Amino acid sequence: MNAPDRIEELLSATRTAFSSGVLVQLKLGGYHGDEPELKAVLVKKISVKGGDKYSFTYRYKTRDTIKNFNESEALALLRDGLRDEFRSARLATTDFDMMFERNGAKMRLKRTEVEGREAPSTDHNRAKNRPLSETGKPWLKALGITGKTGAVRNDAQDKFRQINKMVEIFAPLIAGLKPEKPLIVDMGAGKGYLDFALYDYLATVARRPVRIIGVEMRDQLVADGNATARASEFDGLSFQPGAIMEFDASGADAVIALHACDTATDDAIFKGICAGASLIAVAPCCHKQIRRQMQAGQLDGRLEPLLRHGIFVERQAEMVTDTLRALLLELNGYKTRVFEFVSDAHTPKNNLIVAEKDGRMGRDREAVLKQITEIKTMFGIKQHYLEGLLGL
Ligand SMILES: C[S@@+](CC[C@H](N)C(=O)[O-])C[C@H]1O[C@@H](n2cnc3c(N)ncnc32)[C@H](O)[C@@H]1O
Repeated sequence: MNAPDRIEELLSATRTAFSSGVLVQLKLGGYHGDEPELKAVLVKKISVKGGDKYSFTYRYKTRDTIKNFNESEALALLRDGLRDEFRSARLATTDFDMMFERNGAKMRLKRTEVEGREAPSTDHNRAKNRPLSETGKPWLKALGITGKTGAVRNDAQDKFRQINKMVEIFAPLIAGLKPEKPLIVDMGAGKGYLDFALYDYLATVARRPVRIIGVEMRDQLVADGNATARASEFDGLSFQPGAIMEFDASGADAVIALHACDTATDDAIFKGICAGASLIAVAPCCHKQIRRQMQAGQLDGRLEPLLRHGIFVERQAEMVTDTLRALLLELNGYKTRVFEFVSDAHTPKNNLIVAEKDGRMGRDREAVLKQITEIKTMFGIKQHYLEGLLGL
């Protein structure tokens, strides 16, 4: 058999698996084309109103893009991709795997039989709207999201939507982490909604091995979380009791903190920076530390109209605090984005600061320090708590 026929053989097996309903996934890797940050393409079958489609997930370093194609478009794209831009592919079906490798003009295709693998659901709408579509999970029941029948309780619909949204945001960020089995530390984990949802999604849907540790000062929540993790057979998820500042985060690839109270967010950022974590993501909540200083320290009357109304003081404190956090992260080699992660109908504390370490200072360190000083002077702030932790 000559070399290009290996590609046709793989495509033919893919098409047969697709039409007979045994396709699990076709993954193209070893990308060496022109698209910046494209890592892999994952192909699966989905059923939508217009019929069955090939759904392509383009996996970039920090995000996924999904496009659906009919069969002839899909096969043409796969054929071109395998000839030019992707050096490897793995076709997974319920019965066998096929590994394809290309090295220059040389191509290899190896088939291995497998047993006991199930084809995933092709229901597009469920898959699209909810990363966690399966509701019969022990952890959902333990956290009070589902009731006796296994259905999501009426009063927990919002919470279920929120945790699915969190998974949509965090899964691509975690996918961008380099180690094969990254360590994620969730500071101020509470009941661990995010940890259970993320672990479940990564382990059972995305099949991305991870370790997640939730750090929480309330012992009962830690005991409950560990019991539920054991009951769910989530070996890589655990909860540890204690204060964020007492936790040894060394080795963490990602440090997360959602609504950790006031300066606990800064403790989490500090721990992430010290650990050299590639990803730090925090959703701050109350911003009391800066608010008190802003009210006490107005230099002159110029800001008085902006700080006259309590609600505006609160919003200014939030913006000033999180701006300083973003600048301090930048100062430590992190590229930082701030965006709303859930609708403000759920919570007004809906900003997420996502900082990814690239080690390079985009700007001069002195320029960043100057901006920090100017903002503090403008609002009469003596010191941001995180500055103190960082020894500035
Ligand atoms: C508002 S809850 C948020 C819980 C969870 N992250 C969530 O989003 O569902 C904040 C949690 O952080 C914990 N916490 C606050 N400060 C902490 C600290 N310094 N160390 C450890 N846990 C802390 C609290 O006990 C509480 O459970």
